[in-house]
Amino acid sequence: MRGKFITLEGIDGAGKSTHVAWLAPWLRARGCTVCVTREPGGTPLGEQLRAILLDRGQSMHLETEALLMFAARREHIAAVIEPALAAGAWVICDRFTDATFAYQGSGRGADWSRLGVLERWVQGGLQPDLTLLFDLAPQAGRSRASSIKVPDRFEQEEDEFFARVRAGYLRRAAEAPGRVRVVDASLTVDEIRQQLEDIAGTLCR
Ligand code: TYD
Repeated sequence: MRGKFITLEGIDGAGKSTHVAWLAPWLRARGCTVCVTREPGGTPLGEQLRAILLDRGQSMHLETEALLMFAARREHIAAVIEPALAAGAWVICDRFTDATFAYQGSGRGADWSRLGVLERWVQGGLQPDLTLLFDLAPQAGRSRASSIKVPDRFEQEEDEFFARVRAGYLRRAAEAPGRVRVVDASLTVDEIRQQLEDIAGTLCR
């Protein structure tokens, strides 16, 4: 049986990583084979593209940024995501195409319909079975972000940028209500975990 494809999304500081950390072992304990991966990245080539994309010293046209995200994604789908799903594994991916619409589309101003063309080209019919969108106000995300880590090319953006990114994510959620579950990321980790266990549990059946 084909595996399930779950993606986690949200502005920087929304708490995705905290929940990936327990979700994967939780699913394994229920007998699922789980592949945890991330975007941009997930393959040797994708990780090299990630380093370029996150490098604060790197400037690029906003469409170049979108194309590199989709280039990394094409490789990731071919080399990791599709083979894992075909082998029956569950794929948990920290960010996927909703991030491109939110960050490059709404955040930077890349044309939404052009991104849709790339999405169809790169993904064909592939869409996540479930997307968990961690929704949080930019100010709250910023206050949670680590003060030790040097901000990357995206994290260094202002709150207005993240307000647009958040709105882009909510637009994607409204366009695909059957796929995207919006989670109130201002709740406690335990409260969110309870909600996610209920949601993920319905996919396990
Ligand atoms: P992130 O996933 O937040 O990793 P970390 O937790 O290590 O900081 O970082 C990836 C960054 O890439 C994030 O700021 C959002 C950005 N991004 C896009 O702009 N577009 C995309 O399509 C993807 C996948 C990520």
